[in-house]
Amino acid sequence: MAELGTGALYQRFVGPLLSRDEGADAEQLSQLTLQALGQASLRRNWPLVSGSLAGLGAELEVRDLRLEQTLFGCRFRNPIGLAAGFDKNAVAAGIWHLFGFGFAEVGTITWHAQPGNPKPRLFRLAAERAALNRMGFNNRGALAARRTLERQALPAVGQRPAVLGINLGKSKITSLEQAPDDYASSLELLAPLADYAVINVSSPNTPGLRELQDDAQLRRLVERLRRLPACPPLLVKIAPDLEDEAIDVIARLAYEEGLAGVIAVNTSLNRLGLEQRRIVQTGRSLAEEAGGLSGAPLRGRALEVLRRLRAVAGPGLPLIGVGGIDSPEAAWERICAGASLIQLYTAWIYEGPQLVPTILEGLVQQLDRHGFRSISEAVGSGVGWR
Ligand SMILES: Cc1cc2nc3c(=O)[nH]c(=O)nc-3n(C[C@H](O)[C@H](O)[C@H](O)COP(=O)(O)O)c2cc1C
Repeated sequence: MAELGTGALYQRFVGPLLSRDEGADAEQLSQLTLQALGQASLRRNWPLVSGSLAGLGAELEVRDLRLEQTLFGCRFRNPIGLAAGFDKNAVAAGIWHLFGFGFAEVGTITWHAQPGNPKPRLFRLAAERAALNRMGFNNRGALAARRTLERQALPAVGQRPAVLGINLGKSKITSLEQAPDDYASSLELLAPLADYAVINVSSPNTPGLRELQDDAQLRRLVERLRRLPACPPLLVKIAPDLEDEAIDVIARLAYEEGLAGVIAVNTSLNRLGLEQRRIVQTGRSLAEEAGGLSGAPLRGRALEVLRRLRAVAGPGLPLIGVGGIDSPEAAWERICAGASLIQLYTAWIYEGPQLVPTILEGLVQQLDRHGFRSISEAVGSGVGWR
């Protein structure tokens, strides 16, 4: 067994649990993993722990100068990030680079601690390599997140092996009218620890939240946050279910308000052809279930939204592509369509940690085949997979 790497171990032991909808509870599995990672991050300098973590890094990190980019003042060692929602309470912020990620986005964090929706609230759709979730921003709140990050004693902003994004949402008990102050309270507390911050106005699981994507509401929110002293680069994360005109409005707003970038996309309320698919645990179809869909079925729509943003905003606005990226081909497609960075969630769970180096190696190979000197030359180039 000693010769088996993390990727092989994951495939052997976790893979079978993920190959069926029923069985091991999806949320419990994530929680167990995060507890272990949280302990490892806190103790990452202890000799035994640091030895194991170094082994992890040696296996999963891909170092190649052609993958590096500097965007909105942050230096990214590579363009692959962990998407928001996995490390909601920022417990493992100190070790995500050892999984090969160039950046990690923690959260969504809200001002008030909140339990989220009743369980079960996360469901595997194993055959479709997809998931349905209606977590509802379960998190310990901004103050606890700050303490959790401080306890991990991270290197200073700008000097971390992986860039740290902090994704912020509205507390459930806060009205839409009060939303700007709610986000601002969280950001004020967390700004000193963030390389960048994300205004999440696109989760489908907080009632009314997506109305904040409306032009006037979003401008009011952005302007409130930018008044904070030492506001980090601000990005907005949008939903895949927006009409084309609404996407155009956000692209223009991002430009006019000087946002650092746009993240496209969050999970979808659209059932993307899976309306009749039943959730084993509840016996109901996806058409009847609440929650957002992620994973492979989202890939096409996520790509469309990204293309539209790029067409309207032009090459000056950094875009982060997320949704259904599960292979080097899918990553390359998103980058060539205009994403400077990409994020993974659902496929990283199904495929395991090996997915990050597999994608990075695939990207380097494509750079070679197309004669690009760096990943930034590929961004928006429109070339295909060779
Ligand atoms: C269980 C789960 C929880 C999520 N929680 C959040 C969240 O708290 N904030 C957020 O911005 N996105 C959240 N997301 C959305 C992901 O960050 C990502 O945008 C989406 O899943 C599409 O990417 P994927 O197809 O690679 O999973 C969550 C996704 C899943 C599956």
